[in-house]
Amino acid sequence: MLKELILKNRSYRRFYQSERISATQLREWVDLARNSASARNAQPLKYILSTDETFNARIFEHLAWAGYLSYWAGPEEGERPSAYIIMLHDTLIAGNYLCDDGIAAQSMLLGATEAGFGGCIIHSVNRDKLGELLNLSDQYKIIQVLALGKPKETVVLEDMKGGDVKYWRDENHVHHVPKRALDEIILEIK
Ligand SMILES: Cc1cc2nc3c(=O)[nH]c(=O)nc-3n(C[C@H](O)[C@H](O)[C@H](O)COP(=O)(O)O)c2cc1C
Repeated sequence: MLKELILKNRSYRRFYQSERISATQLREWVDLARNSASARNAQPLKYILSTDETFNARIFEHLAWAGYLSYWAGPEEGERPSAYIIMLHDTLIAGNYLCDDGIAAQSMLLGATEAGFGGCIIHSVNRDKLGELLNLSDQYKIIQVLALGKPKETVVLEDMKGGDVKYWRDENHVHHVPKRALDEIILEIK
């Protein structure tokens, strides 16, 4: 069950943009993050939610997609995310957040996947511009953005060959993601 969900929880970058996600739904996913582990239980992560099409379009301008697909400028109109969760570091709560951000992101993405949606963690963010758009005070630092929607693409995992980590798309627009073998990542103590 869990493995199935984790395998389904891929990074999706093309969506049925007209399939909306409600603010209530986003709040449920943030609630999963809220109930996840946090270093020193400090819980310094905060979130801004967007389901509004006009605001989504403005957020989209500040995100970079799929660095390995240099020929692709990101999802075109009609295939863009229908919601965003912007993850912030509240610096007044704690000076760092260790790996809280990854745990929180995974919790939310698993929730989205379970509900039939999907998303992508976007770390390549123009933080200055997005911060301006959000009118953020110095207290908050943008960590990353979760782009969310109803996935419109097929993503397949494959065994990595020759150490090549680059994901790629085939002629049918199927997105292939190489993963290292289990025996490569579990080290034997000598
Ligand atoms: C911390 C982190 C940052 C990421 N940043 C981006 C990003 O800025 N843009 C993007 O298109 N994908 C981004 N991704 C998605 C990765 O490219 C993706 O996880 C990787 O290709 C493996 O695919 P998978 O998630 O389907 O296993 C990020 C993923 C992680 C975990």
